[in-house]
Formats: sequence, structure tokens, C-alpha cells
Amino acid sequence: MSNTPTTYSLKIDLELRQRAQSAFPNGVYGHMNAASLSPAHPQFFARAEGGRLWDVDGNEYIDFMCSYGTNLLGHHHPKVDEAARRQQAIADCTTGPSALMLELAETFNNKVAHADWTMFAKNGTDATTICVMTARAQTGRNTVVLATGAYHGANPWCTPAAKGVTEGEKANQITYTYNDVESLKQAVEQAGDDLAAVIVSPFKHDVFEDQEWPTDNFAKTARALCDQKGAALILDDVRCAFRFTTGSTWETIGVLPDLCAMSKSVANGYSLSVVTGNDKFRTGAGEIYVTGSFWFASVSFAASLATIEAIETEGAIDKMHSAGSLLRQGLEELAGSYGFHLRQTGPVQMPLVLFEDDPMWEKNNFFCAEAARRGVYLHPWHNMFVCAAHEERDIREALERIDGAFSALKKQFG
Ligand SMILES: Cc1ncc(COP(=O)(O)O)c(C=O)c1O
Repeated sequence: MSNTPTTYSLKIDLELRQRAQSAFPNGVYGHMNAASLSPAHPQFFARAEGGRLWDVDGNEYIDFMCSYGTNLLGHHHPKVDEAARRQQAIADCTTGPSALMLELAETFNNKVAHADWTMFAKNGTDATTICVMTARAQTGRNTVVLATGAYHGANPWCTPAAKGVTEGEKANQITYTYNDVESLKQAVEQAGDDLAAVIVSPFKHDVFEDQEWPTDNFAKTARALCDQKGAALILDDVRCAFRFTTGSTWETIGVLPDLCAMSKSVANGYSLSVVTGNDKFRTGAGEIYVTGSFWFASVSFAASLATIEAIETEGAIDKMHSAGSLLRQGLEELAGSYGFHLRQTGPVQMPLVLFEDDPMWEKNNFFCAEAARRGVYLHPWHNMFVCAAHEERDIREALERIDGAFSALKKQFG
């Protein structure tokens, strides 16, 4: 595919989308409903390899969503897939867990600085929910303090939509503004003697808005307030864990949570989420009842062990940093050459790219559509991800294709 869209067609995708309208409520549901993106973004994909994917019409994309973050090492990482295949041939879902569960928990307990114990589940929402339940069980209190606009999953207590949720399910929550220390203090004050937990994201990675790394003051204040009140500091590391260090992301800024929810990247696409906690919250974690039919399945444990080893031995974190830096710099230069100004925020491994003077994301929607037509999958308002399989030549090829998208944008928006 060149940087001019010649063969791009979404014929099969369109047919499938039409069928999906009756097969599912509202077409495809949840965050992967492509209806919120441009018509040039396909809904259905057929194949993936490394940092690339192919839609059902055979169009190839250099993929900067990386499956919304589950693809960290690249699709079909040989060692991860081999470990999963080997375990699949032995056993996956059994009447009780295999010893791999223990080996993996010990791995997390060794690698994650605050972790004295570990629990496993399947989705990020399971993990954030376990953290909140554990904090409540341990403290005997109800109120959780969380940042306005932060996403913690799709259970009734945290889903962003109001429909289908009772007031009671959203009760006992007070919000603060990320990085605003005064608002955090006020929320904690308001919770009074009922504060069970403060929940923080490793950095502000909300949709539509510039991303913000936490200030030192904000992170340390959150830790100090929880210590003063005997509440849990919960880090929702579902999106970020293992992209910055093989531990919880706030280890990079020297602040340890009591409880941490991880998922997305910890098993390179195999379904697994993880809760790590310290001894102060061990009793509470033991008192709640949480489980799932698939939570003890061994293939994901095998994949996770291989993923963690590969992240460490293959320098995956440095690779993502290099790829992300090259992409950021290349986008900046290209945008400048066409007279556009970008706002690129967040860490380079998880970039959010917005245009200045584009309050309704019109330029960005157009730009991302043109990029898709040229074989680069970009997102106009969600943070993106690079993976360790994005090599320098992939980024350079992506930038060449993106050059055509800027050129089309220039013609459209001057
Ligand atoms: C920060 C954060 N927390 C929680 C979740 C929920 O994870 P899951 O969709 O696996 O339930 C997500 C998912 O995107 C997330 O980004």
C-alpha cells in the first residue's frame, strides 16, 4: 500500500456491519464499536501479526491502537504463543488451578514492589472491582474517592453510562480533579470517617483531553492522605502496567499503592487481570467473595509468565519508548511541514495526538480517516499504543503513509 489510497475498500466490512446491526444490540457494543470512528475505520478484522493487522477486506494497517493495549510484544510473539500452545495441549480450564497460578503469583509478588499477595481474574473491571471491595472489606468503610472522567471499567459502580445502573450502585463515591491537590484534599475531607479508598490512574489518560503525568505533589499527597486516614491507595494500572517498568507504574515516581489493578498487557493478549496488594489489605482481600469460571485457566498464566520474561529479556520497554519517540518526532515534523500544530500528550508509549484549533475533532477525524485509507490505524480521541514489535522501519513506513494523510488534510482544511 502506498501513501496514496488506490485499492482501499471496505466492501466486506460494510456487509458484516449490516448483519451486525441485527445480530447485536446497536451493532457492535462497547469500546470497539467502530461507529464512533470515521467510516474509513473498519469494524471487523481478519488477521494480525507483530504491530500490524488486516481487516476483512484484506487492507493492511500499521496499528497504533494495539488492541487497545493488550498487544505489547506484538501479535504472535513466538515465545508467548509457544508457552500458551504447550499449556493448551496439557490443560486449560480444570477443576482446580495448576501450579502455574502459584508460580505466576510469586512472580508478581517478587517483581511488583508493593505486592505481598496477588489475585487473578480476567478483565480490568474485575481487578478494579476487587480492589474497591478489598478496600471496603478491610476498612469497614464505604466511600471511594475517584477522579472525574477517569475510566475504571464497565461494572455498574464504574460504567460511564447512566442507563441500567441504580443510584445505589453509584453511591458512596466522591470525585476529585486529577492533579488538583486541593480538590483531592476536599474530596477526602468530605468522605470524613467513611473513606475506604482513593483511586488514581497512573497518569490522566481520559478520552478527548490532553493527557497529564501526575505531579510529584499530587502523587505524594494521595499517598499521605490514605496513610493519615487508614484508607487504601488504589492504582488503576489496567492500561499502563508493564509499559514503563515491570511493576506498578507509580514505582517510576517512587509512590507505592496499597492495591493495584493490572490487565491489558500482562499476558500479551491472553485474557488475564491481576490484583496486587500489600499485607495491610491481605485480610480484606481474603474476606470478599470473588471468582469466575475462567479465572483459574492455565493458558493465560503460561502466556503471562512468558510475556513477563520476554518484556525483560527483550528490552520491550525501551523498544516501545524508542518507537514512540520516533513516531512523536515524525508527526511533529510532518504536521509542521504542512502548517498544522499538534498537541501530543502523554508518554510516548501511549500517545494522544490532537490538533490545535480542533475543538470538535473534525480535523482529527478527517486526518485519521485518511491515515486509515493509507494503511495506518490511528485514533482521533483515545490514547494510542505502540508495541515492542514496532521497529524503526515500521514507524518510518507509517510516517510515509501519514504524509499523504496530512496532504489530504491540507487540501480539505487549508
Ligand atoms: C484504566 C482502565 N481501567 C479499567 C479498565 C477496564 O478493563 P476491561 O475492559 O478489561 O474490563 C480499562 C479498560 O480500558 C482501563 O483502561
